[in-house]
Amino acid sequence: MNPWFETVAEAQRRAKKRLPKSVYGALIAGSERGQTIEDNQKAFTELGFAPHVAGPIGERDQSTTVLGQQLSMPVLISPTGVQAVHPDGEVAVARAAAARGIAMGLSSFASKPIEEVVAANPATFFQLYWCGSKDQILQRMARANAAGAVGLILTLDWSFSHGRDWGSPVIPEKLDLRTMLKFAPQTLARPRWLATYVRSGRIPDLTAPNMAVGDGPAPGFFGAYGEWMGTQAPDWADVRWVCAHWDGPVLLKGVMRVDDALRAVDAGVAAISVSNHGGNNLDGTPAAIRALPVLADAVGSQIEVLLDGGIRRGSDVVKAVALGARAVLIGRAYLWGLAANGQAGVENVLDILRGGIDSALLGLRKTRISDVDRSDVVVPAGFELALGVPETAGAASASGERAEAAPA
Ligand SMILES: Cc1cc2nc3c(=O)[nH]c(=O)nc-3n(C[C@H](O)[C@H](O)[C@H](O)COP(=O)(O)O)c2cc1C
Repeated sequence: MNPWFETVAEAQRRAKKRLPKSVYGALIAGSERGQTIEDNQKAFTELGFAPHVAGPIGERDQSTTVLGQQLSMPVLISPTGVQAVHPDGEVAVARAAAARGIAMGLSSFASKPIEEVVAANPATFFQLYWCGSKDQILQRMARANAAGAVGLILTLDWSFSHGRDWGSPVIPEKLDLRTMLKFAPQTLARPRWLATYVRSGRIPDLTAPNMAVGDGPAPGFFGAYGEWMGTQAPDWADVRWVCAHWDGPVLLKGVMRVDDALRAVDAGVAAISVSNHGGNNLDGTPAAIRALPVLADAVGSQIEVLLDGGIRRGSDVVKAVALGARAVLIGRAYLWGLAANGQAGVENVLDILRGGIDSALLGLRKTRISDVDRSDVVVPAGFELALGVPETAGAASASGERAEAAPA
C-alpha cells in the first residue's frame, strides 16, 4: 500500500485499521454524548467561502509568527499525550513539525521528556496542568524553562468527566505478561502496530516523564491523573502566579468566554486559545469556532488569539484565520498521521493542511494569510456566539469582583 494519504480522513481510516481498538478509542476521546466533539467539526461545515474568479496574485505566503516564533504556516501542534500510538511518540511529532517549519506543543502527560523534544524541535511550548502543590508545579516549570521551552501552554479546562455513551477504552498502565495476555486479541489483530514496537525494542507504557519532580521517579499516567484530580482547581490569582513565575510567554488554552478572556489579559497571559479541549471536557460546550469572532474582537488587539478544535483541512485553518485567529492548533489530525505512518505521516498531514491553505488563498485571491478577513467567509445568521459578555467590559478584572455573565 502507498504510505502516502491524500486527506486527514484517510489518515484516520488507516489509524483505525492499524491501532489496537483501545488505543484508537483513546484518541477519539470525547465525553458524555459527544455533542461538543461533533459540533467542533460540524461548525466548520456551516461556514462557506466567497471566492473571486480573477485578480492579481503572486507567490502565496502562509508564514506568520506566534508568541515570537516564526512559523511557515499558521498551524501549531496541540499538546496531547500520544503514548502507545508510536514508539517515537512526541519526538516523531516534534521532528515532523520542525521539518515543516512549525511549533510543537508538548503535554505534561506526554510519553517523552521535554529535553528530547526540544532537541528535536527548538520551537517547543510546554503544556502545564494545575496538578500537585505549587512547589511541584514550580519545579516542573523550572525544568521546562531550563530545557529551553519557548513558551508555556497553561491548560485549565478540565472537569474529570469520564462517561462516554459509546464506551470508554480500557487501557493498561504497563504491558506486563498478564496484561499482554489479556490484550493479546486486540494487539495481535494489529500486526503492523505491534511490529513497529517490536522493531523499536520497546513496549508501550504510560509513564509521564515530565510529571516527575526533582530527581524523583516519573509517575505513571494514572498516578499523575489521580494527583491532578486531588488538586484544588486554580483561581485567577494562580494564573497570575504562573505568568509571574514562567520565564517567557504564557498561552492560556481553553478560553470560551469574554469575561474569562478579559481576566486572562489582566492576569498577564500573552495569548489564549479559544478551545473546548477538542470536545473532551464539558460536553455541551459549543464549537470553539463559534466563540472565536467575539473573543478576537474583545481581546485580539491586546494579546494573540488562537483556536483549536475540529481542524481537519487547510480550508478550516483559513476559515479560523478569517474569523480572527492568528493561528490554529491541531490535535487529532496529527495523531491520525502519526498512527498511520509515524513521523512521515505527521509530515503528510502538515502537507495536506499547507496545500489546502494554499488552494483557499488562491481561490480567495489573497497573497498573504494575513490578508484573509471576514469578507472572505460566509457566516450564517446565529453562528457567532457571545459567551460571558460582561455588562460593562471593564468590569471583568482578575483583581476585582466577578462580572455578571450576560446570557449567550
Ligand atoms: C487523545 C488526546 C489527548 C489530549 N491531551 C491533551 C493534553 O494532555 N493537554 C492539553 O492541553 N490538551 C490535550 N488534548 C486536547 C488537544 O490539545 C486539543 O485541544 C484538541 O485535540 C483539539 O481538537 P482536535 O483534536 O479536533 O484538533 C488532547 C486531545 C486528544 C484528542
